[in-house]
Amino acid sequence: MFQNSIREFLPYCLPDITEREINEVVSTLKSGWLAKGPKTIEFENRFAEFVGAKYAVGMNSCTAALHISLLAGGIGPGDEVITTPMTFAASANTILHTGATPIFVDIDPLTGCIDPNEIESKITSRTKAIVPVHYAGQACDLDSIYSIADKYNLFVSEDAAHAIYTQYKGRFIGNRPQNTVSFSFYATKNLATGEGGMLVTDDEFIANKARVLITHGMSRNAWKRYAKDGSWTYDIEEPGYKYNMFDLQAAIGIRQLERLGEMQKRRENIASMYNKAFANVPGLLLPTASESTTIHSWHLYIIKINSEKTRINRNEFIEELNKRNIGTSVHFIPVHYMSAYKNRFGYKQGDFPVAEKWFESIVSLPLYPKMSDSDVQYVIDSVSEIIEGAS
Ligand SMILES: Cc1ncc(COP(=O)(O)O)c(C=O)c1O
Repeated sequence: MFQNSIREFLPYCLPDITEREINEVVSTLKSGWLAKGPKTIEFENRFAEFVGAKYAVGMNSCTAALHISLLAGGIGPGDEVITTPMTFAASANTILHTGATPIFVDIDPLTGCIDPNEIESKITSRTKAIVPVHYAGQACDLDSIYSIADKYNLFVSEDAAHAIYTQYKGRFIGNRPQNTVSFSFYATKNLATGEGGMLVTDDEFIANKARVLITHGMSRNAWKRYAKDGSWTYDIEEPGYKYNMFDLQAAIGIRQLERLGEMQKRRENIASMYNKAFANVPGLLLPTASESTTIHSWHLYIIKINSEKTRINRNEFIEELNKRNIGTSVHFIPVHYMSAYKNRFGYKQGDFPVAEKWFESIVSLPLYPKMSDSDVQYVIDSVSEIIEGAS
């Protein structure tokens, strides 16, 4: 029998939507302009100002932003792009979508982010870019990554899907970006619009190119063609994509951005409750971040099961939490384990040993602003009970 009484299912993640977001969506619906329009532009401007970038381009996903970043950075067939296997498939799939080849580099065993010390040995004459991922909401070692990029003249497309509010050495991720930084507003993210993403850059050429590419390659501002000051003419500068954000998404985003600081505080609060409670639980390893991560966005709270100190393994631990109605997730199954990658590139177990070992032990616990203190306590009690039972 469980010591704690079982409660209703607690998902590992839920968006935090209030009347403010709902009212903004309703007023946008009533405005009659549903597609890309004034709200998208307002959200782009506010987002650029928030992170401290010159340009922000709203898209329908972070995946789109990652793809467009590489295209705008001139990446294409025959090129090689370095990234991490400890990420969601989007980071690597979008490299393939440009016609380039992803080259995986193993992770730092302390942070789970790409290990800069391993990057240089993977650079060839074909290497054109690096896609570092700010894993779980920490910042990657950007100084080391950019110094390698500068040395070899590589484009850097930062995957900041987890890193809205993260700071590296006191600056928001996306602040004065050297090339491009892509954020996600997917339903599980710290700022959620359901689906959505944002590319930020300080490079005017990239911003303009991205705006054209995300609307079929149409000449700039073609979205205005149904407005009074618009024109029916347009040109297709190159065959582009249909990747733009639209005003209903942006309406949610504007209000979420206003509440981001408050939501971040709650995330920090929950993370510190977990850190305190689990500090002395043998069998658990707590999330760590580099000293350069001056603000952790706490997008994910990833613990590791220390198999040397407990009899329970990661999969059994997840099952035990599930029996207690607690949802969890695993971030991530390494990309090189995926059939599409194994079949095409012949990857096998042992190719990226640090990422593989990391994967075997990780579990993402519930962490989101809407969790009550009693939800957090229930997770703490359940985790402690499971680990105690296996000691
Ligand atoms: C690391 C990482 N990169 C990219 C993405 C893709 O984001 P989106 O769903 O907005 O395309 C995700 C989504 O979960 C992610 O975790």
